[in-house]
Amino acid sequence: MRIVVVGPGRAGTALAIAADQAGHDIVAVFGRTHERARNAAARFGAMAQRVGDPVPPVDLVLIAVRDDAIGDIADSLAPTIGDASGAVHLSGATSVEALAPIAAVGVATGAFHPLQTLPNPEAGAARLGGAWFAVTADSPLRELLHELAASIGGFPFDLDDAHKPAYHAAAAASANFPLAALTVAKDLFTAAGVPFAAARPLVEAIISNAFDQGPAESLTGPIARGDVATVATQLAAVAEETPEWEAAFRSFLRATALVAGTTDRFEELL
Ligand SMILES: NC(=O)c1ccc[n+]([C@@H]2O[C@H](COP(=O)([O-])OP(=O)(O)OC[C@H]3O[C@@H](n4cnc5c(N)ncnc54)[C@H](OP(=O)(O)O)[C@@H]3O)[C@@H](O)[C@H]2O)c1
Repeated sequence: MRIVVVGPGRAGTALAIAADQAGHDIVAVFGRTHERARNAAARFGAMAQRVGDPVPPVDLVLIAVRDDAIGDIADSLAPTIGDASGAVHLSGATSVEALAPIAAVGVATGAFHPLQTLPNPEAGAARLGGAWFAVTADSPLRELLHELAASIGGFPFDLDDAHKPAYHAAAAASANFPLAALTVAKDLFTAAGVPFAAARPLVEAIISNAFDQGPAESLTGPIARGDVATVATQLAAVAEETPEWEAAFRSFLRATALVAGTTDRFEELL
């Protein structure tokens, strides 16, 4: 495929590296200025362009700007993108409607969201192999995006545009909530004089169980057992050692009791 990338940031450059390695042709990289596009473009021997320059006749334009800039970029690209076959943004949360100005000039539009964290281009590109990709598009763009995902070692799946907010909430719950819990855990381990690294085998086993047996089915511990006295002891220790986390710890306990179906037993304590 001949591909143009608009927005040479973390996601755009990571995807371009992975696509380039899979044998696709990165034809041009568009940035806010030529200067800003130049570094990323040089990696691929691609043209460094500025939004407003003509978009070459390519199979796909990847719009990889921040979610809240997608609408403005679509307006800016619309007069010059007519020779491209398709254009997608990379946001998991944003509707394809944000690309309406591009659809209005006859270019097929969609969304292509890698369900992966891409902290920088190199690490991101390495993680895209094996990642799942949410595809929101009608045929034939849909098939092209499935092919692109598969070509870089990913797993494409179709996502309805109306389901994007719920899907993105699920992605945030998967990626962010465990880190919030682990931050609380790390501070409590430190207070107890235990290295955080000691929890690694436990945490890795929990994640593995969640995908093998289901998250709720993998729950063990005092909340699942309905052991109120033990949980009361934990809460008192949190209040003593890390009072800044007491409210958050209570919220995690409530959520865990909901999952375990033991809310009634903990009503008085929590
Ligand atoms: N990073 C991730 O983990 C990840 C994962 C999945 C999906 N995504 C999606 O990927 C998209 C990009 O996110 P990101 O994390 O890659 O953001 P980012 O690192 O901030 O990159 C955004 C890029 O867009 C450029 N840009 C902004 N406004 C522009 C404009 N008017 N014209 C041309 N270029 C412009 C920025 O250039 P300047 O430096 O000049 O501002 C920057 O190079 C978002 O929709 C996000 O939801 C990200």
